[in-house]
Amino acid sequence: MKSKEQPIGIFDSGIGGLTVLKELGSLLPQENIIYLGDTARVPYGIRSPETVLRYSFECTEFLMKQEIKLLVVACNTVSAISLQDISRMISIPVIGVIEPGARAAVHATKNKKVGIIGTEATIKSSAYSKAINAMAADVEVYGLACPLFVPLVEEGWTEGVIARMIVERYLTGIKSTGADTLVLGCTHYPLLKELIQEVSGSVSLVDSAIETALAVKHLLVDKGLETEAEIAGARKFFVTDTPEKFISVGERFLRTSIDNIEKISL
Ligand code: DGL
Repeated sequence: MKSKEQPIGIFDSGIGGLTVLKELGSLLPQENIIYLGDTARVPYGIRSPETVLRYSFECTEFLMKQEIKLLVVACNTVSAISLQDISRMISIPVIGVIEPGARAAVHATKNKKVGIIGTEATIKSSAYSKAINAMAADVEVYGLACPLFVPLVEEGWTEGVIARMIVERYLTGIKSTGADTLVLGCTHYPLLKELIQEVSGSVSLVDSAIETALAVKHLLVDKGLETEAEIAGARKFFVTDTPEKFISVGERFLRTSIDNIEKISL
């Protein structure tokens, strides 16, 4: 039996999952949250499904040992490939980012054309198209892998000439489909949101991070697992490589300090 006061566990292949943590933190400020970023092995998005599955199991096992009450798979690639296997492996509730993002896209599109941008592994898995078409069979879905976005964000280049050129180059293809809705199907992409919005014009952007935080809140309420604490929850960070870069890019992004951080091996 899980107690309301246990932490929420969240993992990602690296720093990108902080986009989900940030939304979770603003929606559920009293919850204690443990974040694991597998920074030694990022990116997952270029790896085979077998490797992604193995890494995902290791991250899950680590967080289960931290006695979490709910697991959030912040990584789109892991959500696309491993979510069902992870759910079978553990007995606590698990939420990934694909379904909440897909639902929001179905609600947002007016012309029934949705673009998805993500890692190669996420796009190849067709997880977003399957989820969208399971909810609305008449929606056309166009997937596009944007592999350079992750290193851009990891490097902190989220604005400026180089970032703009790369975003423009990738988005040309998706713009020509006429999709009126674009899903940011990768943890890192919300950090490029302003640029993506500028380049893609009046398209509605779906941020899976926001949608996932809302889904987590609903699930906690549904399962009676919301904390009763009235003070701000604690944050604990684990990374698998040296924490310096994670701290510098992460602090700039979260706009709070990251001090409770530990390097571990999986
Ligand atoms: N976290 C990954 C995702 O959301 C992006 C980075 C990676 O490729 O590992 O798909």
